[in-house]
Amino acid sequence: MTSDSVQNGSRRVAVTGSTGKLGRTVVAHLVEQGYDVLALDRTRPESPAAPFVAVDLTDYGQVFEALSGGVDEHPTPVDAVVHLAAIPAPGLTTNAATFANNSAATYNVFAAAKALKIRSVVWASSETVLGLPFDTPPPYAPVDEEYHPRPETTYSLNKALEEEMARHFCRWDPELTMVGLRFSNVMDPEDYAAFPAYDEDPSLRQWNLWGYIDARDGAQAVRLGLERTDPGVEVFIVANADTVMSRSSADLMAQVFPDVEVRKALDEHETLLSIDKARRLLGYQPDHSWRDHVG
Ligand SMILES: NC(=O)c1ccc[n+]([C@@H]2O[C@H](COP(=O)([O-])OP(=O)(O)OC[C@H]3O[C@@H](n4cnc5c(N)ncnc54)[C@H](O)[C@@H]3O)[C@@H](O)[C@H]2O)c1
Repeated sequence: MTSDSVQNGSRRVAVTGSTGKLGRTVVAHLVEQGYDVLALDRTRPESPAAPFVAVDLTDYGQVFEALSGGVDEHPTPVDAVVHLAAIPAPGLTTNAATFANNSAATYNVFAAAKALKIRSVVWASSETVLGLPFDTPPPYAPVDEEYHPRPETTYSLNKALEEEMARHFCRWDPELTMVGLRFSNVMDPEDYAAFPAYDEDPSLRQWNLWGYIDARDGAQAVRLGLERTDPGVEVFIVANADTVMSRSSADLMAQVFPDVEVRKALDEHETLLSIDKARRLLGYQPDHSWRDHVG
């Protein structure tokens, strides 16, 4: 535990989607940093790292009860929410089922937080709002938060609507801080063995400009979002500092997107999903790279 984390010792945070790929790492990180975590998901984890309550987030009553300390054995209300639960990609189920689940879950979390005067909400948006899979090329590179969302799927449409919804929740409550994290493709260390094969064919990963996010760095961004105190909503691209490729980022852009303006001199493997805003406003500093795991 760091000295910073001690001050978080009394901060009680609910994490939705806590059983999922990103949620597991987020819960472990927040516990390690001294947060008092209440883990929420409809699926029970095999080995819970924090007290767990099974909740279907599409049911407002269940969300309100869980966040307010109404569940027996879990009587302490939370003062912050990390909302990660979702069907996490297009095409896993029907578009309508994806929209119904994800939009209801997010509305219920945002609305229950409002009703309970919870003033800190961090939630998972997605890189997809940048226009993935870039069948229409990006407006420029590296892409950043400066252009309007361009969702191309129902999953992404919902993420874009969530960002808009957050703007209105913050307008309704001037004391509310909401942080939307547009995560890149989430990776665990065991996923890195597959990365060298991407080099053979740049088209395999051009759909997200060869980006990725190590779940541990994703968890860091969540914690930094919880530490943010400026009221209002901000969205941030959260990716690692490099790409999944061995070829240089400038070469990849020149070959695959020759007509797209590259707006800066790129470091050799520099991410084409800009993390400058997250660095600047959150203090985000990715600690990991797949290159440290694959020889
Ligand atoms: N995985 C990625 O590459 C990626 C990229 C960008 C953004 N995201 C976003 O990050 C978040 C976490 O993604 P993940 O990869 O950990 O997904 P995951 O599928 O591994 O975990 C999501 C969890 O949410 C839970 N959940 C879904 N609907 C629920 C409901 N109605 N009630 C209760 N629990 C519910 C699931 O049971 C699951 O445990 C999601 O919001 C996803 O859209 C993921």
